[in-house]
Amino acid sequence: MRALVTGAAGFMGSHVAEWLAARGHEIVGLDDLSGGFEENLPAGVRFEKMSVLDPLDGLFASFKPEVVYHLAAYAAEGLSHHIPVFNYQNNLVGTANVLASAYRHGTRHFVFTSSIAAYGHPQGEGVFDEETPCRPCDPYGTAKHACELHLKTCLDYHGGPTYSIFRPHNVFGPRQNISDPYRNVVGIFIKKAMEGQPMPVFGDGKQTRSFSYISTVARCIAEAGLIPQAVNRTVNIGGDRTMSVHELALEISKAMGIQPSIQWLPARHEVVHAHASHKLAREMFPQAYAEEVSIPEGLKRMIDFTRERPVPAATECPSAIEIPDHLPPSWAARLGFGGR
Ligand SMILES: NC(=O)c1ccc[n+]([C@@H]2O[C@H](COP(=O)([O-])OP(=O)(O)OC[C@H]3O[C@@H](n4cnc5c(N)ncnc54)[C@H](O)[C@@H]3O)[C@@H](O)[C@H]2O)c1
Repeated sequence: MRALVTGAAGFMGSHVAEWLAARGHEIVGLDDLSGGFEENLPAGVRFEKMSVLDPLDGLFASFKPEVVYHLAAYAAEGLSHHIPVFNYQNNLVGTANVLASAYRHGTRHFVFTSSIAAYGHPQGEGVFDEETPCRPCDPYGTAKHACELHLKTCLDYHGGPTYSIFRPHNVFGPRQNISDPYRNVVGIFIKKAMEGQPMPVFGDGKQTRSFSYISTVARCIAEAGLIPQAVNRTVNIGGDRTMSVHELALEISKAMGIQPSIQWLPARHEVVHAHASHKLAREMFPQAYAEEVSIPEGLKRMIDFTRERPVPAATECPSAIEIPDHLPPSWAARLGFGGR
């Protein structure tokens, strides 16, 4: 199979591209390196440094991908309230641009990485399954849900490509960007601990999430371009174990062999409990779920990987802040908006 993986220099995209390349598929990885790193690109993947907003017809005409795995996005959910124009441009218009080229050049199947953020539901209302109505409550989740709808309308109107939509949540593992202060809580905590700093927790830390080690998530996404069961389906993927953010900080401290140290920050506006059912994913991708890695083992692997490398410098948001009002104070101070 010939497949284009967008976001291939990023965390999840690099694992998807690696899984496919290792099985002999011909992979082109596209990334603008705004949030990923060239060293993440797996062996055997041809790299195209481009934005998903660039004209892509030349690349599609020459490579003719049968399947597109679209993972490129700036995935900073909380910050998306403050960079709405950039969020919709990069994550929604970028997706429409990739899909238009895919359609024009006969791509058979389009695998889209949406998010649990598409569900929204600020107070959390039980476990989201794929039938739960989507009520996104931030621009990031709104863009993801709009992309999902756009994929379906493109198929209905133009007759292709078929799609698989994944809604992962809180994925972690080696190659994740641990230096972006606005996203990836596991990485933020590990980096702070490596620097001897306390781990920043918003509110009382009782907000709960289900953290998901990358290997099963990446394998489900990769397999979606290969199996008929995944055609025109929307699927939650990730781990089942629920954990509060405070518990996560304690678990990471234990895995690193250090005393827990927390910096308690004012609560921010965020979904309190976000959990998803994976019944459908387990039925559809039994081998990927048979290889599931536990949270402690996954943390150990990520910590070992991270410790083998120099602590990376902080990376910055790829956009200027558009609306500084209501920034969490710690972010406002960092971004030079103190006093707003
Ligand atoms: N990590 C998670 O927990 C999680 C959860 C749900 C959904 N997702 C989604 O999965 C996908 C991958 O996320 P990730 O965690 O690997 O993030 P990541 O930042 O590590 O990877 C995204 C990659 O996309 C690239 N990119 C961003 N904008 C681009 C553009 N305009 N053109 C080309 N490349 C661009 C970045 O440089 C980066 O390498 C994203 O779509 C994200 O929204 C991630």
